[in-house]
Amino acid sequence: MARITEIAPDLYRVSIYLPQIDLQFNHFLIKDDEPLLFHTGMRRMFPEVRDAVATLIDPAALRWISWSHFEVDECGALNEWLSVAPRAQAVCSQVGALVNIEDFADSQPRGLAKDDVIETGRHRYRFVPTPHLPHGWDAGVLFEETAGVLLCSDLFHQLGDVEPVTTTDVLGRWDAAIAAYQAHPLLMDYVPLTPATERRLDELADLQPRMLAAMHGSTFVGDGGAALRAAGKMLQRRLGAVRVDAHHAA
Ligand SMILES: [Fe+2]
Ligand SMILES: [Fe+2]
Repeated sequence: MARITEIAPDLYRVSIYLPQIDLQFNHFLIKDDEPLLFHTGMRRMFPEVRDAVATLIDPAALRWISWSHFEVDECGALNEWLSVAPRAQAVCSQVGALVNIEDFADSQPRGLAKDDVIETGRHRYRFVPTPHLPHGWDAGVLFEETAGVLLCSDLFHQLGDVEPVTTTDVLGRWDAAIAAYQAHPLLMDYVPLTPATERRLDELADLQPRMLAAMHGSTFVGDGGAALRAAGKMLQRRLGAVRVDAHHAA
């Protein structure tokens, strides 16, 4: 059963917990003149997410369907949504549209460049491309400036069936999730550390978000900028590469 929480004005978090993998999957609905769904959810979850969204709006009224990167929890149910929402358009990064969605989707997507905006009516969601953060060439995030909400996908991934909103240390929880996945033979290397990782996190910090709406785990309310800057350091510490000349030096 999906758990629905209004985490900011007009912004609803639709959360489904999968106990088998001890993980929440969160879908965000912006209830506005042109409703926006961020994360379609998986195809298998579609009936449950659709029924939850239907308690908030008529799903046929959806106008925008967006996500961060091409992966089943992000956009797997895109075509199911397009089939119930004939006015809706898929909207993602330009590279995502070019390399995946123009073929994958049943209708033509809209590709966003840096700083392009999805206007929903009372709200404006600005697109920030973040290639390979959290992962995927096509990755990006959306930022709503009025309430300072960053729809941040897998950034600040937390394990467990946690509370919808928290002011506690989400970075510590993300660090614990990364450590757990790094120790797992299949799930390791979930987030790549690239020369651009810390810089991209710092650019997101410069937006000074006051809410970090995570796909997996609680939405953090507080100094999002500080959390993002510290996240760059955490990833360096947790995933930092061994220097290639390390054995020669030893
Ligand atoms: Fe992902
Ligand atoms: Fe995810």
